[in-house]
Amino acid sequence: MDNNSPMLVLGIETTCDETAAAVIERAPDGRGKILSNIVRSQVEEHARFGGVVPEIAARAHVDVLDGIIDRAMHEAGIDYAQLDGVAAAAGPGLIGGVIVGLTTAKAIAMVHDTPLVAVNHLEAHALTPRLTDGVEFPYCLFLASGGHTQIVAVTGVGQYVRLGTTVDDAIGEAFDKVAKMLGLPYPGGPQVERAAANGDATRFAFPRPMQGRPDANFSLSGLKTAVRNEASRITEITPQDINDLCASFQAAVLDSTADRLSVGLKLFREQFGAPRALVAAGGVAANQAIRGALLDVATKAQTQLIMPPPSLCTDNGAMIAWAGAERLALGMTDTMEAQPRARWLLDANATAPAGYGKTRAGF
Ligand code: KG4
Ligand code: ZN
Repeated sequence: MDNNSPMLVLGIETTCDETAAAVIERAPDGRGKILSNIVRSQVEEHARFGGVVPEIAARAHVDVLDGIIDRAMHEAGIDYAQLDGVAAAAGPGLIGGVIVGLTTAKAIAMVHDTPLVAVNHLEAHALTPRLTDGVEFPYCLFLASGGHTQIVAVTGVGQYVRLGTTVDDAIGEAFDKVAKMLGLPYPGGPQVERAAANGDATRFAFPRPMQGRPDANFSLSGLKTAVRNEASRITEITPQDINDLCASFQAAVLDSTADRLSVGLKLFREQFGAPRALVAAGGVAANQAIRGALLDVATKAQTQLIMPPPSLCTDNGAMIAWAGAERLALGMTDTMEAQPRARWLLDANATAPAGYGKTRAGF
């Protein structure tokens, strides 16, 4: 590979309940192109348990990963000898799945004598808007998924400063738990959004957690408990009650998110100047009401809102391949000693807030 030819990178994602592989091309000028992007969701395997079961996830990754990689290579129309590198998400995530993906990437790297890049899954979410929209540094990332809720200043590849995080549940996790307590199927986020669309958001006065605090942290567990308390007070719960509970819950999440993000953007400006964009990623960003709230926040902060398409906001292989390519372009590769990691802070200097380790919320 010389500096004037495009780079071809295979990316592998197995940190949670999606088995994914993709091939991307990175041009010398930094522009990216997705050549293939195969995602197999395990939602059906986990649905009857109401959440992701780690052992089932790991086994499902083992069963399908090789086939998914073959398909990604085939659709991209290249063979292994043409790869400039292979990237795998080495964490944070469910350790069984991470081991499957990283070990497979090591085997490919060894057999085909190509560099390995052990990617932080959160870094891959953070760099995705550079693949989709060519966003330049520095920008402010709002990452909200089932496992993560963070506001991060992204100032360069490998340069992340966490401005805010959840002290308990992740936002997606709170949506999932509220859905579960109201008897809605897993995964709950889209179900709660649908129910909320037909509900009265003013019927229940739920708390707006952390509102007005000078830090940019989130808290969701008190709100979740408030929903449970109200629901348990209703003797025979009707579909309209469920809609109203969902609408009132979602309204509280929106207000809290808008407040926390506006503080996050203020902190960003103080430390790094004007952000090039507010970028949203993670499954929660698929929520239309949340998208609307983010647009308001960005407009008030006089910056643009960038949202990668939903299929690239949720877990996928292209984001891993892209993060691998960004690192490779800077000469950042890993050895066969790279370790799978259940926990892996994006900002190594960030300290864990109170509540760290009590939930599956990642930091
Ligand atoms: O990023 P993602 O696909 O996977 C990880 O958690 O890493 O995010 C999934 C999360 C789930 O908690 C799901 O309930 C939530 O995102 N989610 C939503 C919506 N769609 C997905 N939450 C609220 N509203 C939605 N429309
Ligand atoms: Zn993710």
